[in-house]
Amino acid sequence: MNSIDLSVKIGSLTLQNPILLASGTVGYGSEISEYADLSKIGGIVTKSISLNPRKGNPPPRIAETSSGMLNAIGLANVGLEEFIKTKIPFLKDIGSTLICNIAASSIEEYVECTKALNYEDTVKAFEINVSCPNVKDGGLIFGNDVKYVRTITEKVRAATDKPIIIKLSPNTASIKEFAQAAKDEGADAVSAINTLVGTAFNIYTKKPKIKNITGGLSGAAIKPVALAKVLEISRNVDIPIIGIGGIMNWQDAVEFMICGASAVQLGTVNFINPNACVEIIEDLKKYCIETKLEKISKLTASYLI
Ligand SMILES: Cc1cc2nc3c(=O)[nH]c(=O)nc-3n(C[C@H](O)[C@H](O)[C@H](O)COP(=O)(O)O)c2cc1C
Repeated sequence: MNSIDLSVKIGSLTLQNPILLASGTVGYGSEISEYADLSKIGGIVTKSISLNPRKGNPPPRIAETSSGMLNAIGLANVGLEEFIKTKIPFLKDIGSTLICNIAASSIEEYVECTKALNYEDTVKAFEINVSCPNVKDGGLIFGNDVKYVRTITEKVRAATDKPIIIKLSPNTASIKEFAQAAKDEGADAVSAINTLVGTAFNIYTKKPKIKNITGGLSGAAIKPVALAKVLEISRNVDIPIIGIGGIMNWQDAVEFMICGASAVQLGTVNFINPNACVEIIEDLKKYCIETKLEKISKLTASYLI
């Protein structure tokens, strides 16, 4: 088999392959472009953008944990205007799909950011972050309340014809209800998961390792949790899923697709090997040849078969 089809569909969005870079782990693209050829990947999800610039939380805001990391960045970002002026020009030429992640402290702010970015042809879809655990305003207040997720999806849907992906929190009892709400209100897909709330203490100073005390846990440590959340959505709700959480290699990516993901995002692994995305795509191709799979999209939810 010479021609393996690695392309996947997320609603109306077609990606050249299922490997995306996760929000917050590669800045606005230029930061990682020295190390990885971004034209080879399925797409990039930007750091969450808010209406106004945000400084984020005071340092230290990152700590290493067993098989993972804690972060409490607090959505530091350049803000909408600066993003459009100085970041979009670089992102125009990356040669893969650009998905803009939006975070907000109010429903109106989500709508305003979506409307402003809707004019940018380079932006092919929106990922709506309703699940950041590290901010007091917005974040989990929205992501833990299905009524908010419903309203945010409805209002953002009305603000754009581009695909919208609702990024769900794992810090809830029943992620399927949130996925169902997103579907009911017209979301094209959900992405799962954002980070899990965690903490770590220094046993000598008796102080938390990050100033915010709690942060979001990511990396290999969260993979089984993320996989179970993807499976829960896939078994119960008919909506495309983008799997995220602890994907460190091609085998992890395949596992997420088997459990129901149409595509996946790489986050923490980018800090260990910034070229992991390109290597994983090559390895996925080899896996398809080895298992005689002509279209990688057939893997999605193949546990059902
Ligand atoms: C340093 C850091 C910053 C992050 N910032 C954001 C963000 O701004 N918006 C967002 O939706 N997710 C953010 N995330 C969450 C990731 O996109 C991803 O959902 C999470 O890290 C789980 O994937 P992983 O285990 O592969 O890292 C961030 C994660 C890390 C580690």
